Order: sequence, then C-alpha cells, then structure tokens
Amino acid sequence: MCGIVGYVGAQQANGRALDVVMGGLARLEYRGYDSAGVALVTDDGLATAKKAGKLVNLTEQLEAHPMPPATAGIGHTRWATHGAPNDVNAHPHVSADGRIAVIHNGIIENFATLRAELEAAGTRMTSETDTEVVAHLLGGAFEEVGDLTGAMRSVAKRLHGTFTLLAVHADAPDVVVGTRHDSPLVVGLGEGENFLGSDVAAFIAHTREAMELGQDQVVTITPDDVSVVDFDGAHVEPRRFTVDWDAAAAEKGGFASFMDKEIHDQPHAVADTLLGRTDTSGRLVLDEVRVDEAVLRQIDKIIVIACGTAAYAGQVAKYAIEHWCRIPVEVELAHEFRYRDPVVNSKTLVVAVSQSGETMDTLMAVRHAREQGATVLAIVNTHGSTIPRESDAVLYTHAGPEVAVASTKAFLAQITAAYLLGLYLAQLRGTKFPDEIAQTLDELRELPEKIQAVIDGAGRVREVARSMADASSVLFLGRHVGYPVAMEGALKLKELAYIHAEGFAAGELKHGPIALIEEGQPVFIIVPSPRGRDSLHSKVISNIQEIRARGARTLVIAEEGDTDVLPFADEAFFVPRTPTLLAPLVAVVPLQIFALELATAKGLDVDQPRNLAKSVTVE
Ligand code: M6R
Repeated sequence: MCGIVGYVGAQQANGRALDVVMGGLARLEYRGYDSAGVALVTDDGLATAKKAGKLVNLTEQLEAHPMPPATAGIGHTRWATHGAPNDVNAHPHVSADGRIAVIHNGIIENFATLRAELEAAGTRMTSETDTEVVAHLLGGAFEEVGDLTGAMRSVAKRLHGTFTLLAVHADAPDVVVGTRHDSPLVVGLGEGENFLGSDVAAFIAHTREAMELGQDQVVTITPDDVSVVDFDGAHVEPRRFTVDWDAAAAEKGGFASFMDKEIHDQPHAVADTLLGRTDTSGRLVLDEVRVDEAVLRQIDKIIVIACGTAAYAGQVAKYAIEHWCRIPVEVELAHEFRYRDPVVNSKTLVVAVSQSGETMDTLMAVRHAREQGATVLAIVNTHGSTIPRESDAVLYTHAGPEVAVASTKAFLAQITAAYLLGLYLAQLRGTKFPDEIAQTLDELRELPEKIQAVIDGAGRVREVARSMADASSVLFLGRHVGYPVAMEGALKLKELAYIHAEGFAAGELKHGPIALIEEGQPVFIIVPSPRGRDSLHSKVISNIQEIRARGARTLVIAEEGDTDVLPFADEAFFVPRTPTLLAPLVAVVPLQIFALELATAKGLDVDQPRNLAKSVTVE
C-alpha cells in the first residue's frame, strides 16, 4: 500500500519538484490516504511538510505555508501499518542530523530489534513507525560510506520484510535514491529529468518511457542519468518499456468519480482485452503466453489464485475453462493457498489474477506455486509490476489504469482474459472444434456493445439505489456463474456503502441463509438465461418465490424477454441476451452501478472508501 513519488530535474526546472511530486501523489492517492508528506532538497537544506488525512489537507497546508523551490523531491501517501495515521507518523521521516529524508512502502519486520539497537546507542525516536528506524540507519551509514547510494545498499541488507524506500540528502540537490524488496518501484525516464514511482501513474503526465526495477536493486536518479546496482554494488541493466496509456486515461474525464468513469470504460476494457488475439485464419494466438505448448498440453489441473474481486473473476473462469477444456479448475484465495499444503506439481497450471500485479498475498502464492514446480500464468493489468515479472507467462488485460479503490473495469477485463485463456487451451488440447471457438469469440466481441447498453439503460437501477440509502442489509443470490456475480455485487456494496451485504449460492438458501429473510429484506437475484441448460432458470425462479413468500423485496436481474420473472420481481432490471458462460460480463454491471449510486446518495467517497487501499502490498 502507500504511494511513492520521486523526482529530480535540471537546475533550469528549479521549482518544479514540488509540483511534480504533488501531481504524482494525486494520481497515487488510491494506494493509501491516511496521511501525505513531501521532502524537498532546497538551497537551505531539506524542507519537509506532512499532514494526516487525505492529500487535500497537505495541499491546504502548502498553500498556507509555501515550500522553497527545489530540483529534487520525494512524496508519500500513506496507508498506515505501524503507528496511527497522524501528523507525526506521516512520512517522510528524517535522520537524527536532519540531513536525510526517507519515505517507505511496506513493513520492516525486524524494526523492533533495529529500533532497540538505535535507542541503546542514544537515538531518540519521534514516531511509532518502522520507517523512522530506516532514516536513522541511513544517517549512520551515510557517515560511514559518504554517499547515499552506498548508504542505501548497506541499510537495505539489514532490513527484513517488504520495502520500497526513497531517500534524498540535503547535500545532494540533484539525486534521489530508491530501492525495493517485495514492494513495487518503477523508474520514469524523462529529458533532463527522471522520476520514481510506486507505479507509472506517478509520472505518466510527464513521460511514458519507463524502466522496471528488479528485486533487491538500488536505483540512483539524477537529471541526466539512471543507474542501477544490486545490493552488492554490481551494475544491473533493467528492462525498459513504454506505457501504452496516457495521462488522460488516469483522469476523471468529466465524471463525478473515478469509479463512475471506470464503469463507463468497461466496454473499451473488454474490447481492448480482446483486440489482436487471433491470426489471419482466426486462430487464437496468445503471444504473451510464452509457455511451451507441450507443457500446456500435459496440464492436468488448473488452480486460480487471487484475492477479492480478482478471485471472483477466477470463479467465473472456473465454469468456462472446465466446460471448454475439461480440465479441473480450483479457485483459491491466494492467502489461503499459500499457507496450506496445496497439491501442486509440474502438471499444474497456476493462474494468478491481479489488477495491480502487486498484491502481496498473490505474489507470495505465485512464488510458492513455482517452488512446487507449477507453471504460473499471470492475468494482470499493470505493466512493470512484480507478479508478471515473477511468473512464467502473462496475459495482460487492457483495461487501462484503474484508480478507484473498488475494482470494476479490471473485473470485466480479467474475466475476458480468462475466457481467452480457456479458449486457447481448448484450441491447443482439441477439446473444442475451431468453429465453436470462433463462434464464442464472435459472441465475446458482441459484449462491449451489450455492456454499453446496460450502462445506458441503468436509470432505474440508479433511482432504486438512491431510494435505498437507508438500507442496513442487502443480500445477493446467484447460481452457476451468477454465484460469483452475487458475491461481487455484495463486495461492491460493502466496500463502497459500508452496508452489510452477502452473496449466496441460491441453492444454499434453504440450508441456512433463508433464516435471514424477513419483511422488506432487499435481495438481488441474478437469474440465469431461460435458454440455458439444466432447468437452472426455473430453479432460481423457485428460489425467488421462496424468499418472496417470506417477505423479501426482490430485485431481479434477468435477461431481456424473460417475462417469467415478472410476477415475482418487486423490481426487474433486464440485461441483453448473452450466452450463459459469458453472462457475468453484463449481469454484474447493474450491481456495480447500484453500489456506486447508493454510496453516493449516502455522501460517501466512492473512490477512496474508508480503511482500504487499492493495492494491498502487505500480507
Ligand atoms: O490488484 P489485485 O487485483 O490483486 O487486487 C485484489 C483485491 O485486493 C481487489 O480486487 C479488492 O478486492 C478490490 N477492493 C475490490 O473492489
């Protein structure tokens, strides 16, 4: 969690450091918003400012007390781990001599030992953070080695846990030094200026040229140079890449919130994720999947690992991949997978799904799976992130930057990418005829228009949501692929509106949850297509009748033309006809809009819900 920005520019750009750093923090605030702070290297030494609360509090403080111009600076937006989110614990933290400022994302697990050692040597701590320990260690190391890069190397080796660290020194107005271990850091390459950031959003307004920083490396940026060494000082040549979206993609573009904008981005997210995946004969070619076809042919089990919304995308993938490929698919929360003793071997394909590519639970599960000999394929949205770098293959979703903490367009893009993977494996293993694969691809290509139709026709969903601002509990029911949709609908409502919400498999109702139904209890029901197999449709209609008979207020999501639902629906929201396995891409959209609208009606901040951060980079 935490957003990190570093900037260094030439003398003629003097004064720009604060603007660049604050601009970067604004784009990274989704990573944490408990407090924010900056440090600049000025002609008079280090200048720092920090403030508890959202970035706007720091902005107001800087307006009231402007900082001097500078060519180098670092900035931080915090999601608190050690120490309450107050002014004192906000980053940056400064060494005892006041010459070095440091910011940090992650957790220093051996900080108590290090702190005790420093205190025994007479250092006085002013905060409760693990980061302050690093500031003091850097101060001591700098005195010994005489340069910031060397000091960072020597301190980094002493730290256990996860960290991205950036530091500046009062005597080095044109240097920022950074390092990373199990936490993200990317380098932005400018002309006469260079940047560091937790992700490319930090500097996308200034450059699209970037560089990945590997594990256990130290980067030193000056206006005209970027140099990278490992912890032992050996020179490293990092991989360069060009970011394929621009600053406008990370702006609200006239919408009231990023979430609303990102819901409207969904038709594009799906269309872009499908783009360029077939050759001239219509065969799927997933170029990024660099795993030998022979390996993929002998896979006998797939395990999808992910967290939160990405895990629900994995659950949708299970239905499709098992149906198309006849390979057993398990879906497991990454943090649970990691700490049991999963049966994984060289015939297991582990699919790690992550928007950020940085979720620590998922990253740890990826490492564990690879240690057990599995092949790991990542479905990830963010280029330059850690999970794809540590996986055997990657299938990128092309959703563009997702800024709102609640995931929307990434979910649809993840499901789309998982469908592509399923169809690709079916093609490779011959479990589907080419014309069947081509037909499903055609049906997928119709989805962006259908999603657009749901968004355009969501007026009634919005009205109903606004009228339910006082609701204290909403339940969600679904079967088959509708079950993960129900759970995703509940998650959206919980995280945005702070309302008790739960998603159930509709078939499970009679095994317990029906006891929750009382007069007026709102329940969303995701009804499968009446054209689908196995009389699932009539089973769900029966479930609706059962809860309605017990007083539930039924909010039904059904396919256009499904008049069977009308007698039992207090509200019916229709979505375009879509093949059953692909239906989550349309069925979830009214639920996203419902949560957004209800939370907005409650006056809540839908982009930055309380207690959360976009990217969960601690376990
Ligand atoms: O970046 P990731 O996709 O790995 O993130 C996984 C979850 O933390 C994320 O989906 C989370 O559940 C969102 N807040 C849901 O809206």
